[in-house]
Amino acid sequence: MRLHSHPASPFGRKVMVAAHELDVADRIAVDWRPVTPVAPNAAVVADNPLGKLPTLVLDDGRALFDSRVICEYLDDLAGGGRLFPRDPGVRMRALRLQALGDGIMEAAVLARYETVLRPEELRWQAWIEHQKLKVARALDWLEERVEELPAEGVDIGAVTVGCALGYLDFRFGADRWREGRPRLAAWYERFAARPSMAATRPHDLEKAA
Ligand code: BEZ
Repeated sequence: MRLHSHPASPFGRKVMVAAHELDVADRIAVDWRPVTPVAPNAAVVADNPLGKLPTLVLDDGRALFDSRVICEYLDDLAGGGRLFPRDPGVRMRALRLQALGDGIMEAAVLARYETVLRPEELRWQAWIEHQKLKVARALDWLEERVEELPAEGVDIGAVTVGCALGYLDFRFGADRWREGRPRLAAWYERFAARPSMAATRPHDLEKAA
């Protein structure tokens, strides 16, 4: 299998953290693609009409997107029921956290693009502030419900929230998301120490790419 991704993409990291947790990472060859909303990459577009990362190309040529679909595919490949719990109540809790983590990543990436990609004279400060407010509200929600995240072990909710927090550290360190959120910070400290997270640090991948 081949994965179109980018060292800085939190959604790409989510897929690779899932792959490591499921012991299938060595079956995936990663192709780093420079992609932005205004500069699609031809190789990615050939496999995904949306031109978005991550996109996983299976050995039979089928392409899977987005990160939710890819992670579910990898979970099935590894036997199923590991990152996507089978029990309906536990599963819904994990899926809700996945949706929240994806939402944090989407808002943070939009704020990042507005800050570094859009021409300076077109930048919209209120847009950036409202994306950051969305992130802050989601983090406060998590701080109040940190027991929903698995204290030990891992599911798709933990993977997604972990990658979202990792992206905030990577691109928005100056915003100090840990302040006022000690429970979430403690959870992330444990999660970030997992080998799957250590193997996918954006700083390290950027250097190696
Ligand atoms: C970034 O540079 O922050 C980034 C790159 C690719 C996808 C998403 C974010």
